Amino acid sequence: MISFLVNNKPVRFDGDPDMPLLWALRDHLDLTGTRYGCGIGQCGSCTVHIDGKARRSCVTRVSGLEGKSVVTIEGLAGDNGQLHPVQQAWLEEDVPQCGYCQAGLIMKTVAFLQQHPQPSDEDINAGIDNLCRCGTYVRVRKAIHRAAALSTTGKGETT
Ligand code: FES
Ligand code: FES
Repeated sequence: MISFLVNNKPVRFDGDPDMPLLWALRDHLDLTGTRYGCGIGQCGSCTVHIDGKARRSCVTRVSGLEGKSVVTIEGLAGDNGQLHPVQQAWLEEDVPQCGYCQAGLIMKTVAFLQQHPQPSDEDINAGIDNLCRCGTYVRVRKAIHRAAALSTTGKGETT
């Protein structure tokens, strides 16, 4: 039995401890917002937070999660449903195309902005390595700047 938190709720997992977290989330906990892309840690579509850090859940075994706190895209909005500033910025910049990669990109961005609250384009290029087959990268970058502004001013002005 492995006990950890998912979106602040206690989980007791008694399946195969070698199972990737991605499948535990999707198949055991019905949290299907986290997406399977490559399955080998390359694309980032499966990104979640573990103890506040962005991690690729397809290559993270449940066995290492005892006592840890996992946050998925479903847990990002506030308790009252208020969107996280990164989600709000994504909406305002109309970022997604097909949408498949976007939950992972948003989770990666939230963790990235905690390290780089006012990132340059170079910071973004270096720090956001998720893949998007629809090529939304230009809008992603604009949305990251908007999210940084939203977090700072609450108004969302971009520079
Ligand atoms: S599905 Fe996990 S990195 Fe691609
Ligand atoms: S929006 Fe389609 S893969 Fe990124």
